[in-house]
Amino acid sequence: MIELVNIKKGFGDKEILKDVTVTMEAGKMNLIIGSSGSGKTVMMKCMVGLIELDSGSILYSGKDFTAMDNNQRKEIRKEIGMLFQGSALFDSMTVEQNVMFPLDMFSNDRTRDKKKRVQEVLDRVNLKEAGKKYPAEISGGMKKRVGIARSIVLNPKYLFCDEPNSGLDPQTSLVIDKLIKELTVEYNITTVMNTHDMNTVMESGDHIVYMFEGKKQWEGNNEEIIFSKDKRLNDFIFASEFLQDAKEMRQLDAFKDKNWRSNLKDRPGAREEKA
Ligand SMILES: Nc1ncnc2c1ncn2[C@@H]1O[C@H](COP(=O)(O)OP(=O)(O)OP(=O)(O)O)[C@@H](O)[C@H]1O
Ligand SMILES: [Mg+2]
Repeated sequence: MIELVNIKKGFGDKEILKDVTVTMEAGKMNLIIGSSGSGKTVMMKCMVGLIELDSGSILYSGKDFTAMDNNQRKEIRKEIGMLFQGSALFDSMTVEQNVMFPLDMFSNDRTRDKKKRVQEVLDRVNLKEAGKKYPAEISGGMKKRVGIARSIVLNPKYLFCDEPNSGLDPQTSLVIDKLIKELTVEYNITTVMNTHDMNTVMESGDHIVYMFEGKKQWEGNNEEIIFSKDKRLNDFIFASEFLQDAKEMRQLDAFKDKNWRSNLKDRPGAREEKA
C-alpha cells in the first residue's frame, strides 16, 4: 500500500495540495476523481517523486519514500509501473520493442527470457498477434493495451495511470478498465488511477478519493458513493438529470435487498469528511 500523510504542495504562493492524508490500498483500484485543476495529476507526480513535497510524507509499504536518497528511491521506482495519458509509445519501435524497453533498462535477464516475458504480457493483454506492428498501424485501444503491457512487464507492485481512458469510446474504455482491474487483483498491485470517466468510477471504484480544490473532500467505494450526502460530490458525480435518475434507481435496488438495513449500517457516507 501507499500512504500519503499530511502532504502539502504549492507553486509560488498558490497552494495546490492542502494537507491530504489518504491510504492507497493493495489489490484495489484506488481512483482519484475531481474537477479539472483540483490537483489529481500533481498528487500523482508527488507520489512517484516527479514533484517534491513542501511537507508531509509518502510511504511505500511502510517505507518513507520522502526521506530516501536517489539510490534508495530507485529501488522503489523499479516496483512502479506507469501508464501515461495518450500511451506515450515510441513510434519508431515495434510493439514488442516498446514492451521490451523497460526490461532492457532495468533487468539483467538473458535476451531469451526477456523475449519470453514480452510475449507473456502481450498475450495477457490480447495482443499476441500485434508484436511486429508499429504504433501507427494499430488502434487507440490497442495502443493503450501496449501501454498496459509495458507498464506491467517488470511485475510492478504499484501501478499509476493518469486518465488512461481519455480519447477512447465507452466500450473500449470498459475493456481497458476491466483489464487493469483484473491485473490489479491477480497480482495484488496497488493501482492508483486519475479519471474523469464515470463508468470507471461506478464499475471499478473499490476505493474512490474525491478531491476538491486540493483537499480530500470524500472517500468511499462505488456502493457508498450512491448513498453519499456530500453535496459537492453529488453535484460533481451526478451532474446530469440522467445520472441523478440512475443514482435513485441504484438506491431503490439496494433498498429492495432484504438485507438493506444491515448493509446500510456502514454505508451512507460512513467515511465522509466534513467540508
Ligand atoms: N509545474 C507546475 N507549476 C505551477 N503550477 C502547476 C504545475 N503543475 C500543476 N500546476 C497547477 O496545479 C493545479 C492542479 O493541476 P493538476 O494538473 O494536478 O490538475 P488535475 O486535477 O490533474 O486536472 P485535470 O483533470 O485537468 O487533469 C493547476 O492549477 C495547475 O495549474
Ligand atoms: Mg490531470
